[in-house]
Amino acid sequence: MERDFLSMHDLDEHEIAMVFKTAASLKKKPIQGILRDKNLVLLFQKPSTRTMVSFDAGMSQLGGHSVHLSWNESQLGRGETVSDTAKVLSRYSDGIVARLFSHKDIEELARSADVPVINGLTDLLHPCQALSDMFTIREHFGHLKGLKLCFMGDGSSNVCHSLMNACKKVGMHMAVCCPDGHAPDKKILSDNADSVMVCSKPKEGLHKADVVYTDTWVSMGHEKQASRKSRALRPYQLNAGIMRLAKPDAIAMHCLPAHRGDEITSEVMDGQQSVVWDQAENRLHVQKALLAMVL
Ligand code: CP
Ligand code: NVA
Repeated sequence: MERDFLSMHDLDEHEIAMVFKTAASLKKKPIQGILRDKNLVLLFQKPSTRTMVSFDAGMSQLGGHSVHLSWNESQLGRGETVSDTAKVLSRYSDGIVARLFSHKDIEELARSADVPVINGLTDLLHPCQALSDMFTIREHFGHLKGLKLCFMGDGSSNVCHSLMNACKKVGMHMAVCCPDGHAPDKKILSDNADSVMVCSKPKEGLHKADVVYTDTWVSMGHEKQASRKSRALRPYQLNAGIMRLAKPDAIAMHCLPAHRGDEITSEVMDGQQSVVWDQAENRLHVQKALLAMVL
């Protein structure tokens, strides 16, 4: 069966629990050979460190292979359509991980491909990040239901959007603390209206927060707005003072890459409450579990 993972909506609660169980067991001991002879295409239109390397390493730990294809070095860069590319890649591979600018393009890729397509980030969503972050939070607290996550900064970022979808799926509350003009997508907000609140005052968003999360102020492809965004988002920096507004045992999270001194200080990132390196590592284990499920 062809099984895509374009958004957190593509997994139900039972499947999320299954992914977490498999990820926890693969973290202890990878089962060599479960993806033997499977081939994964990594199609990337934007830069990546974690997503590219963790999918590649994950495939090889499970006995499979991956092929890296950058948009501009493939015929896509010379105008071959997404749909034709999807049909061709389906004849050579067992799955495609795509990191694209347009979410519509990944939907078209998934529609035209005969193999599963996994969203490795689009301008709208980053579901692999959110799924694996839920695993990290559960690993830390032992459960997810009832916890509160406060996202500080650019509420319109792909990571924030997928965290909104993920928190609702797992029974967590979420506050998005952002300035005017940086609110989440209206549709994603209305889909999650019962679990997400949006506010502009850090004190309000951070009240009783178990998890304090931030993402870069300037997402890939938004470089032209860098100075406007940095000015507006400065009061939402994750620093020691901000962390004190959350619960004393709150954890600090960042999807990475971080811009130290902008959205997060080194004091917080390298401090006792930070789980950022576990977050990065868990991408590998959760994605292996996801690959085992969809391939
Ligand atoms: N967090 C994340 O997706 O990192 P990369 O951009 O390095 O893949
Ligand atoms: N919002 C960031 C996430 C990077 C993993 C971006 O899109 O650049």
